[in-house]
Amino acid sequence: MPKLTFHGHSCFTLVADDGTVVLIDPFLSGNPLADIGPDAVGKCEYVLFTHGHGDHIGDGFEIAKNTGAQVISTFEIVAFAQQVIGIENAHPLHIGGGYNFPVGYIKMTPALHGGAVEGDESGCYTTVPGGFLITLDNCTVYHAGDTALIADMELLKGKVDVACLPIGDNFTMGPEDAVRAVEMIEPKTVIPMHYNTFDVIKQDPNEFARMVGSRARVAVLEPGQSYDF
Ligand code: NI
Ligand code: MN
Repeated sequence: MPKLTFHGHSCFTLVADDGTVVLIDPFLSGNPLADIGPDAVGKCEYVLFTHGHGDHIGDGFEIAKNTGAQVISTFEIVAFAQQVIGIENAHPLHIGGGYNFPVGYIKMTPALHGGAVEGDESGCYTTVPGGFLITLDNCTVYHAGDTALIADMELLKGKVDVACLPIGDNFTMGPEDAVRAVEMIEPKTVIPMHYNTFDVIKQDPNEFARMVGSRARVAVLEPGQSYDF
């Protein structure tokens, strides 16, 4: 079974049975809650960005350069990584599209949020934000990215084992809307994310767990903690 480790904010590593490492939204050096710095990311095969905001791109370009990991994101973010940052190993996807990578099938899902790309002074690389549906070792993880509650989540019903959902409010769904997302998606397990990093997104994840109730299992992870499937 794969192993999913939380690193604070929206950053997770997903390690497949064969040891392949997928790193998602690696906001580490600027993140007061991160349990590791970018230098602690050793072997890494894929770096995924849900969208272009600084708290999701984070140290990802640097990590991709240092490890040789393949960058996977929207066409525009991949173009920025290639043309401006100089990263060669990158694979563009777009919303609704997935691809069979050696590690598994990775698909981008819709999200309703902002589209700027951190570091893009030209303004040429604006993108739409997304989330990821990652299927490997017969498990499917949904990382929602930054998003409002959207009716599209209903389309994920029955497809998700573990859903990583933002609960911070202010920039994304808050706890109440995240519970409605759980009702729509019906995942086996929910992991709350994108909370407590900054004052405006302070939330009590245990209160969220109480609100979810019997709808799903809630795994509240401290940075550095892992969820075993
Ligand atoms: Ni954002
Ligand atoms: Mn964010």
